[in-house]
Amino acid sequence: MAVSVHVVDHPLIADSLTRVRDKATPNALFRQELERIGTLLIAEATHGLPTTHVTVSTPLTDTGGRVLAAQPVVVPVLRAGLGFLHPAQELLPNADVGFIGVARDEETFQPKPYVNKLPETLAGRQVIVLDPMLATGGSLAHTLQLLVERGASGTIICVCVLAAPEGIEALRNSGLTVNIDVYTAALDERLNDTAFIVPGLGDAGDRQFGSPA
Ligand code: PRP
Repeated sequence: MAVSVHVVDHPLIADSLTRVRDKATPNALFRQELERIGTLLIAEATHGLPTTHVTVSTPLTDTGGRVLAAQPVVVPVLRAGLGFLHPAQELLPNADVGFIGVARDEETFQPKPYVNKLPETLAGRQVIVLDPMLATGGSLAHTLQLLVERGASGTIICVCVLAAPEGIEALRNSGLTVNIDVYTAALDERLNDTAFIVPGLGDAGDRQFGSPA
């Protein structure tokens, strides 16, 4: 099992990330900028998807083209991952979508699952997990375990805005049987004593949807 981290260095991501980090950014703009980052990260994260050669007839002649060999399964982790779902569906309009709901207990930092709505089998499917924040790694490790239980294998792609070194380390020590390719806009410095990413952007769920009761 291997964990690869790809920090996607792009001026448009950097530009949006700065607004997303800014505590003065209102929720509407935060969602918009998050979506922009999502588009750019997902484009990069999918560069290795296999294609097959086809023949296409232009108005002038026949020529060669390539199409996606298979449709991936996109899995946003509720709630914050919903912010990446629209860009994912724009880029992969025929992908299946599964949903995992995990809330991090803010005292124990342990993941508490509350939704598991995945395709019946993930065998042979490329899975792309969307979760803007990789903090302790507990939520992502839990999600990946559920995907493995449905038959996911090989390499799972994970798209995050921010990752903490502690979370990457936790994935490496998780004992999961899949390889993990993390695409992120930034690898931040550390977690603070309440397991928030520093410098971070705060709570990506609350900043999109408000604070739950
Ligand atoms: C946040 C975030 C990740 C998780 C990361 O979700 O969106 O899912 O925490 O933390 P971890 O790596 O330490 O597990 P949260 O539980 O706050 O739920 P929300 O998305 O509904 O706000």
